[in-house]
Amino acid sequence: MNILVTGANGQLGSELRLLAASSSAVSDRYIFTDIAPMREDQARVLDFLCAPAQADKQTMILDITDREAVLKAVADNNIGVIVNCAAFTDVEGAEDRAELAEKLNADAAENLAIAARINSALLIHISTDYVFGKEPYNTPCREDQKGTPTGVYGLSKLHGEQKILSSGACSIIIRTAWLYSEFGKNFLKTMLNLTGSKPALKVVFDQTGTPTYALDLARLIVRIIEGGDYESFKGIYHYSNEGVCSWYDFTKLIARCSGHNECRIEPCHSDEFPSRVTRPSYSVLDKTKVKRVFNIEIPYWSDQVCRCTENLLKISEIVK
Ligand SMILES: NC(=O)c1ccc[n+]([C@@H]2O[C@H](COP(=O)([O-])OP(=O)(O)OC[C@H]3O[C@@H](n4cnc5c(N)ncnc54)[C@H](OP(=O)(O)O)[C@@H]3O)[C@@H](O)[C@H]2O)c1
Repeated sequence: MNILVTGANGQLGSELRLLAASSSAVSDRYIFTDIAPMREDQARVLDFLCAPAQADKQTMILDITDREAVLKAVADNNIGVIVNCAAFTDVEGAEDRAELAEKLNADAAENLAIAARINSALLIHISTDYVFGKEPYNTPCREDQKGTPTGVYGLSKLHGEQKILSSGACSIIIRTAWLYSEFGKNFLKTMLNLTGSKPALKVVFDQTGTPTYALDLARLIVRIIEGGDYESFKGIYHYSNEGVCSWYDFTKLIARCSGHNECRIEPCHSDEFPSRVTRPSYSVLDKTKVKRVFNIEIPYWSDQVCRCTENLLKISEIVK
């Protein structure tokens, strides 16, 4: 079966490249697409993490906001599964670029859903915990809870979900949270640098969620692809790593795992960092459904933060 991955040079897409390189499902052919070719530094990280296997570093150029191009790519390549990892993920930036966020997170998601429907393919789409947040929840959010986004990014992602669900395509929507990996830009990499270079840092402790190692999410996606029988699994699922923390706890652990003990890290309130986006104060996802339906165990958040931090420290030594 042919699998088309969009946004394949981002965090999640890159982890899918790693898994595809070591996949035993020899009949599955992954076609990695993005809006631009892979950067040289990313290719080196991919090679390092993948060794001794060889990762596919080819990128077919596909702008998912171009409906005709999407329909053609899916039909011409006889695609059975589309995995949409492409998105406008800049939560602050979306406030200024609402039109672009909507175009990429909602309209382009609909393009993929239409292509999936026409070609009887499955669409696996990634959404976010930021579809929640306006209502002050204090228990983990379930799949059937009403979306109440606090900003443009979350609203555009919610619209994407709605367009996919009303398209008639066979779709699996996975909401995830606080994604990090060895690739791209993310909180873990930022804090690894800051705790290694600053004498002191303040980090908010009044926003609670769960970090997610993109490699673990990619493993779920591959499991879904290889499991087949897609019609019976369609719907919305929540996936993050297990456990709960604040951004402050997350940072403390990054500093501990990396040996950055000199940096003094203090908890603070969100209002000390004025922002145009009000982020959810509690966006923990309830993962009961995904664990039951796909019979998976989910790694604990702190184990995976340490694992990724160790990789990043090795990468900084070897991949200059
Ligand atoms: N990051 C998080 O903390 C987080 C949290 C919850 C949910 N999610 C969701 O998880 C998914 C994966 O996130 P991620 O962090 O892996 O994203 P990412 O690293 O930002 O990767 C997205 C990729 O999509 C590409 N792209 C941008 N515009 C495109 C277009 N028009 N057509 C095709 N590709 C395009 C980007 O290219 P450029 O880099 O050149 O723009 C980038 O390579 C997204 O749906 C996101 O909303 C992320």
